[in-house]
Amino acid sequence: MKHKLKLILPNKKYATSYLKMEKEFRAEGSKTASRGMDLFKSLKDFSLYNRKMINDRRGINLEKGRVPATLYWAVVGNKIVGRLDIRHRLNKNLRIIGGHIGYAVAPSERKKGYATEMLRLGLKKTKQLGIKKALITCDEGNIASRKVIEKNGGVLGNKIKVKGVCKLRFWIRNIL
Ligand SMILES: CC(C)(COP(=O)(O)OP(=O)(O)OC[C@H]1O[C@@H](n2cnc3c(N)ncnc32)[C@H](O)[C@@H]1OP(=O)(O)O)[C@@H](O)C(=O)NCCC(=O)NCCS
Repeated sequence: MKHKLKLILPNKKYATSYLKMEKEFRAEGSKTASRGMDLFKSLKDFSLYNRKMINDRRGINLEKGRVPATLYWAVVGNKIVGRLDIRHRLNKNLRIIGGHIGYAVAPSERKKGYATEMLRLGLKKTKQLGIKKALITCDEGNIASRKVIEKNGGVLGNKIKVKGVCKLRFWIRNIL
């Protein structure tokens, strides 16, 4: 990695790059939930979007069934290459599927080790939140994500079927 990958809070300086990445996700037909994108269609919406992200991490005006969460943008040099979302605690649904951390890397930036590094840095953030054991889940067929989790010390807890799809539930003990 020429430039170091960093996890940053949403920042207007990188907003255009972030929007570009989201466009890539839409183009690949990604179904991964991208929090707040309903508010963030162009650069001029950044303040509104950012207010929502600030409120979400402070637990202000959360939608029903949501827990406080922090969205990080992954940046390498001047480019946004991914996003990582940390749920500050589990609720009934997240405990089954979803877990503490979700992540995605821009299609054009995959297979460069970015997700592995993002999860490593994300785990440090969960430690700061007092999470001792992080739950990370993925589809059984998502080989890349499974590798990312296992390379970060993930231990398979169990497998469950949700709407016909086999999901893996991994736990990572926060020893960092
Ligand atoms: C899963 C995802 C985040 C991986 O991102 P990435 O930056 O490419 O991952 P890394 O480069 O850190 O690669 C991790 C491992 O997976 C492997 N890998 C990456 N893409 C792969 C693929 N399509 N098929 C098989 N293995 C793959 C890498 O080779 C690497 O393994 P290695 O260390 O043995 O070589 C990315 O594919 C993605 O954003 N997918 C869509 C969203 C998603 O699935 N998010 C996770 C939800 S649980």
